[in-house]
Amino acid sequence: MELKEKIKELNLAIDSAIVASKGEQESFRIQFLGSKGAVKNLYELLKSVPNESKKEFGQLINDIRSKAEAKLTEAESLFENSTETKRSEIDLSRPEEDTELGARHPLSLVRREIIEIFNRIGYTVSEGPEIEDDWHNFSALNFPPDHPARDMQDTFFITKGDGDPKKEMALRTHTSSVQVRVMENSKPPIRTISPGRVYRNEAISARAHCFFHQVEGLYIDKDVSFADLKQTLLYFAKEMFGEKANIRMRPSYFPFTEPSAEVDVSCTLCHGKGCNVCKYTGWLEILGCGMVDPNVLDACGIDSNVYSGFAFGMGIERIAQLKYRVTDLRLYSENDIRFLKQFKGAY
Ligand code: PHE
Repeated sequence: MELKEKIKELNLAIDSAIVASKGEQESFRIQFLGSKGAVKNLYELLKSVPNESKKEFGQLINDIRSKAEAKLTEAESLFENSTETKRSEIDLSRPEEDTELGARHPLSLVRREIIEIFNRIGYTVSEGPEIEDDWHNFSALNFPPDHPARDMQDTFFITKGDGDPKKEMALRTHTSSVQVRVMENSKPPIRTISPGRVYRNEAISARAHCFFHQVEGLYIDKDVSFADLKQTLLYFAKEMFGEKANIRMRPSYFPFTEPSAEVDVSCTLCHGKGCNVCKYTGWLEILGCGMVDPNVLDACGIDSNVYSGFAFGMGIERIAQLKYRVTDLRLYSENDIRFLKQFKGAY
């Protein structure tokens, strides 16, 4: 092949060579600029070129060498700062960088604490489905069809019953539904709490969310009285918020309890003196409760002439809010690491 063509070919080869790593950079150097490389080879061939053409060809080969060198220098500067570490640079005796530990979620912490408090006085934990039928979420709990009380809990319906409420399915609006299942399947005495996630069709804001978590409690036996309910909740408040905590009850309404009450705890910050957390009332609302309506006992197969009981229900978010001074409900589900980090080490 003529030298001219060889030069042309090499020119093309240099242009199209891909140098994308340190390894490729080295093979490029060997292939084109090494002591047995292509450029060197051209200089060898130059020896047999007639004297009058030596200058012209010599110049062409010099140009090619410069081109290859430029490409190599460019590659060198590119990979100089690359993170590829040579084996000899790895120091196996260096201590490992700290692995950051996660934290328990505040709702898990509070859920666990509530369960432990009630475990100590003999309550067991019961769980049930989040997708619930009308009977367990409403009808068995003394919500008559079309009763406005169903609107108290804005429900996410999943399937319409087409006139047959038994076929209507919804996301449970409270874990009272689990307690219906417990009553249907066991005999008194019953002492159980039902922790779980519940859903309500509410606009998301600092004070409301479309899902939240509850712990609802149920106690059924002979001669259970309102005084038992009050003492149980006072015990809970003191365990949860400290010995100084006090409670008060205000009359309220729930279809499944009669009488019904809402319970306030003395403000955990100012202990009743009045501050901006309790809006200067000295009290914070924590839960709803009441004596189980005889209609509910009968609907679940428990003789209301023999047994009575009480029920209560609280939001875990609300208790955690008071315990950890969380001012915006949305923080619980946004997974902001700065929020979650604050619970490190808590158990
Ligand atoms: N189920 C009620 C709610 O979700 C709370 C409650 C439970 C009230 C038991 C009274 C008795 O709002």
